[in-house]
Amino acid sequence: MKIGFFDSGHGGVTILAAVKAVLSGAEYYYIADAKHCPYGDKSEAELYAIVKNNVEQLLKWGAEIIVVACNTATVRCIDKLRRDYPDVKFVGTEPAIRLATKSGARKILVLATPGTVESERTQLLVAENLQPDQTIKLLACPGLADVIEARYVENGNGVEGKVDDLDGAIDAKLGELLSGEPDEYDVVVLGCTHYPLVKEKIQRFFPSARLVDGSTGVAERVKDLTIESV
Ligand code: DGL
Repeated sequence: MKIGFFDSGHGGVTILAAVKAVLSGAEYYYIADAKHCPYGDKSEAELYAIVKNNVEQLLKWGAEIIVVACNTATVRCIDKLRRDYPDVKFVGTEPAIRLATKSGARKILVLATPGTVESERTQLLVAENLQPDQTIKLLACPGLADVIEARYVENGNGVEGKVDDLDGAIDAKLGELLSGEPDEYDVVVLGCTHYPLVKEKIQRFFPSARLVDGSTGVAERVKDLTIESV
């Protein structure tokens, strides 16, 4: 079974790892589309053209299941992908809002790209799942995925001597985005697949919160589809 993945870079590797943990014997194809990072500030039309290109490439490689390993691309493009490619099995990665609301948390914070926060799908996930005794705040984090991706690419390219600066840049960006937030949230949703790559750094801002993401749900869905296909 050939399974394709794509993201605006290395964030989706967190999804790939979760799938590999529950599924053996599959062949994996991954597009790290860092050239178009960030996806989170693109218009819907611009993003769809980029995403379609990745899908076409994965289909050329023979992918039988395509995992959209990116929250932004999922909430903004997956419905149209399913309409345009009715024979392809897509699995999306949505912000883990359902998981957070089911956990019994009273105060929930969702960190995501501007595109994800603004999307109708995210608003619908909140409307469908939030309980009367719960509050939720959606916080757009412009620039965060890019700065995480920069560190990853620099490391991946073997550029030396810049790692500390890039690490510092992530700290500075997190400080700018999060230091105004109270640390009283019960659950913080990492609503972009890049954010689990700096989970420890985010946890420092919310020491007592549980940090959740959608990777396990995606992995289970992929596994179910491989069983259905046999
Ligand atoms: N990793 C992606 C996500 O899950 C996209 C980040 C970006 O490129 O803006 O939303």
